[in-house]
Amino acid sequence: HTVAAHSGAADLGGYRYYMQKEIFEQPRAVADTLLDVTSIMPELFGDNAWRVFNGVDSVLLLACGGSYHAALTAKYWIESLAGLPANVEIASEYRYRDSVANPKTLVVAVSQSGETADVLGALQVAKRLGMTNTLSICNVPTSALVRECALNFMTRAGIEIGVASTKAFTTQLVALFLLTLALAQIRGRLSDEEERRHLHALRHLPDAMGKVLALEPQIMAWSETLTRKENILFLGRGMHFPIALEGALKMKEISYIHAEAYAAGELKHGPLALVSDEMPVVAVAPNDRLLEKLRSNMHEVSARNGRLFVFADVDCGLSPSPGVSAIRLNEYYGPLSPILHTLPMQLLAFHAALARGTDIDKPRNLAKSVTVE
Ligand code: AGP
Repeated sequence: HTVAAHSGAADLGGYRYYMQKEIFEQPRAVADTLLDVTSIMPELFGDNAWRVFNGVDSVLLLACGGSYHAALTAKYWIESLAGLPANVEIASEYRYRDSVANPKTLVVAVSQSGETADVLGALQVAKRLGMTNTLSICNVPTSALVRECALNFMTRAGIEIGVASTKAFTTQLVALFLLTLALAQIRGRLSDEEERRHLHALRHLPDAMGKVLALEPQIMAWSETLTRKENILFLGRGMHFPIALEGALKMKEISYIHAEAYAAGELKHGPLALVSDEMPVVAVAPNDRLLEKLRSNMHEVSARNGRLFVFADVDCGLSPSPGVSAIRLNEYYGPLSPILHTLPMQLLAFHAALARGTDIDKPRNLAKSVTVE
């Protein structure tokens, strides 16, 4: 008992790894992040937010790694629901390139730690160029990023210890969705009825996430096959393309399996040449308006003897066939669907890493926050 307490095992609450604990904490983390949200209003982002949001004509999101994938998802949301042009930049690129500044842009820095050197550097560049409408989406209230931004929204994931980000990522998505709705509202694009509908979906999100997490045994069975491969391709379309990117990043980080993600429409522009029975393909297949397009991309894979592992919504009408395995999630969850589809990506990577015996919470060569260049 004493030994367990001293080794910190008590904090693991029965789990073997922090990442595993943090994956299953996500319904709670999302509920906590939504705690003060009884209606959609700019003030969720700070006292001055109404004035700032009212004056902006576009959004520039800056982030690295997993947080960059959350920002990419937000681009799809912001352009479709708020009707504002949104761009996403890898912070380490943005800070060192010549760009055209727009003082009416809302600069959104997305970071779990709030201490990532490249994100802080990119923010400095944006400010130096005269862009003073700055907002952080951050999980650490005392961080440098929060101090440096005019507006802030704190995710309430709680301390994240696993190097591979899980609960911070899904709570970032929640925050970015709230931001999208607040911007839509200011621009007269959110009716009371739509606001009610989105709030209802947000409130039920933790339950829906719990149902997806309960698919762990099926996902574990897949990872037994995938863990023996050296390469995996991840496919997604639309707002689920960034989720495929996130799935590939998780896989690389903790299992050390080489994984790449492609927007499914790009398959025939190159990566299809890689597909064979040795290259499994994981597809993120929500029941949205891109499903038929994705289906034809999956045929392209099957025709080349590629083995498909599909995460489909239950209402997709997709059934397993030779070479095609499918795990069915809940019914399509509307614009919040990327949050649900993230969870099987995390579990797949976790179980592949577990089977490979890697140091899951502290993968080789990586640090939790990258505070140097
Ligand atoms: C995510 O799993 C990674 N560990 C990494 O890509 C991370 O998201 C990135 O370093 C950014 O960190 P931040 O959110 O603390 O800025």
